[in-house]
Amino acid sequence: MRKIALLTSGGDAPGMNACIRAVVLTALHYNIEVYGYQHGYHGLIGQEYRRLRAKDVLNIIQRGGTILRSARCHEFKTEEGAQTAAKNLNALGIEALLVIGGDGSFRGAQHLSNYWDGQIIGLPGTIDNDIAGTDATIGYYTAIETAMDSIDKVRDTADAFERIFLVEVMGRHAGFIGLNAAVASAADQVLLPELFKDSENTVTDILAHIEGVKARRGDSSYIIVVTENLWPGGVTGLAEELNSRSGIECRPVILGHVQRGGSPVAQDRLLATRLGAHAVEIARSGATGIMVGEHHHQVVTVPFAQTWAERKALDPYLITIMESLFDLLQRP
Ligand code: F6P
Repeated sequence: MRKIALLTSGGDAPGMNACIRAVVLTALHYNIEVYGYQHGYHGLIGQEYRRLRAKDVLNIIQRGGTILRSARCHEFKTEEGAQTAAKNLNALGIEALLVIGGDGSFRGAQHLSNYWDGQIIGLPGTIDNDIAGTDATIGYYTAIETAMDSIDKVRDTADAFERIFLVEVMGRHAGFIGLNAAVASAADQVLLPELFKDSENTVTDILAHIEGVKARRGDSSYIIVVTENLWPGGVTGLAEELNSRSGIECRPVILGHVQRGGSPVAQDRLLATRLGAHAVEIARSGATGIMVGEHHHQVVTVPFAQTWAERKALDPYLITIMESLFDLLQRP
């Protein structure tokens, strides 16, 4: 193998740079040239690439974002878009393309495989952790840390003013960040898409829980973690409803893209490094159409289609712990 290419696509995630570094250094070890495409699949279509050498990946392991930039590319989903990308990869003599991104990026990779004969290997990079076949995705651990740290800070002001706070976290349609950040920050309540039933009952249950917690603790501060895209109308509407029905001041806080930034925590750097190095190893062995992930601390490979075929489940034990903690919080 002589030439491989690499891109980052979709929502950026802390640890993408660590993964780029691992891919480049491992490939150079085998005397394989690495070409980095800028702006995800856009760069493949527009031929935005540059050769990546060891000096390009110096001092990046600790940086958030991605030195290759990222994008969501609608043009690439068309037949013409993928054909142009295939032509460009062939013109450069690329034998394998490594894609760091989430499930949309892997669907893009699968689409490209209909038009390009080279090898394609995926690396799971998203804060949402919503990719089946891998226990964790690159960026997920840092996002939990950021959300937890922010909720800790919100707790200070919630306590001072005895207010209810609703903290909206990212996750797209999955509750991984929400569940883990809520448990780690000892939030009083969490709303997750995997467990959500209906709005009216949820409000009634929360109000009863707030009353129980208030009776037990003697104050009205209360933190609810809410996953984005869950509450109809968003957390601001829910805050207003809780405010009017409980009589306690209630404030919404949307953490937003702050969860995508920052220096990756050690777990993300290590995951990114292991997966990046392994992706090059398996590219050399001729693998294609797969994602490299991690399961029970072992590196695994998973066909692209399996990464989105089923909804990845939250840790049931953590849910049980969370529910019993919430129950204990309000007992007299
Ligand atoms: O997939 C990562 C993610 O940050 C999601 O958590 C969020 O729903 C989405 O991307 C936001 O996308 P954008 O940056 O395009 O607004």
